[in-house]
Amino acid sequence: MPTAHGWQRGSIRSASARVDDYAKLGIEALPMEFMPRITRAQSMDILSSQANLAGYKAVLIAANAYGRAFPMMMTAAGTVSAAKAFIMGVGVAGLQAIATARRLGAQVSATDVRAATKEQIMSLGAKPIFVESVAGIEGEGAGGYATEMSDEYKAAQAELVSSHIAKQDIVITTALIPGRPAPRLISDAQLATMRTGSVIVDMAAESGGNVEGSVSGEAKRIHGVTVIGASNIAALMPADTSALFSRNLFNFLSAFWDKDAGKPVLDEEIGNAIRLTQGGKVVNERLL
Ligand code: NAI
Repeated sequence: MPTAHGWQRGSIRSASARVDDYAKLGIEALPMEFMPRITRAQSMDILSSQANLAGYKAVLIAANAYGRAFPMMMTAAGTVSAAKAFIMGVGVAGLQAIATARRLGAQVSATDVRAATKEQIMSLGAKPIFVESVAGIEGEGAGGYATEMSDEYKAAQAELVSSHIAKQDIVITTALIPGRPAPRLISDAQLATMRTGSVIVDMAAESGGNVEGSVSGEAKRIHGVTVIGASNIAALMPADTSALFSRNLFNFLSAFWDKDAGKPVLDEEIGNAIRLTQGGKVVNERLL
């Protein structure tokens, strides 16, 4: 799955070498994952379309790996208690993970550093778990994105997570910070407090991981907890993710296609955001 953080990850040298090649070849390269998070670009936003389905699938992966039921069931043979699910990071994937876990019948709580997400969590019927002693990020944050938090905030967050996580059966982590490795949200010591048989899906595993010990593409058993390091979850639903991806491309091309020029002619706002190379040079300010 493309991510806003893709240029930072994995083969940094080969990615930047490729960008230099585009410039040398005189190509105008337009990475769709740089699409600005603005209302009129929503229909062209590949990060959203892919993350939405990935958030849904992450919960199904967790439910499948969990040896118990999600919903509470009162049966003649006794009561099955509801699973407790905790979603860490409430962007596009996190919101869909909350909705999916709720639909499956789990008791859901969620956290984020951006204050605006508190209301969104409650509107989906989940419980917000927020650091109150240290200020988080006001509103949506810059461009809707989180930044690296202060050491004081991190300490308060670790304390909050420690008290909450021991009671959780399912944890889905989605936290990312543009241009930086994923924040570490769950330590090995915190994992050790969880009940045997609990399941964590670390959706940030490809960007360094939110969970200590998680490895992208692997399921590990750590202190009796199954820790699944996600790897391109969107690819597990190829029909739907490809349909949405191609619709994003179609929406982009049809919005900007210039018949006379025989190519897309971008406006300033979207062009400046997504244009990587032009006229033989790297022009995107995120790479300068
Ligand atoms: P993302 O994938 O960059 O990060 C996922 C979530 O992790 C974010 O909510 C972020 O605040 C959170 N996070 C980061 N560090 C954390 C930490 N230490 N602890 C807990 N949580 C942490 O985010 P995504 O899904 O790409 O969404 C980014 C923003 O863009 C959101 O505000 C979203 O509403 C907005 N958006 C706007 C669109 C539009 O208007 N066209 C379309 C899609 C998203």
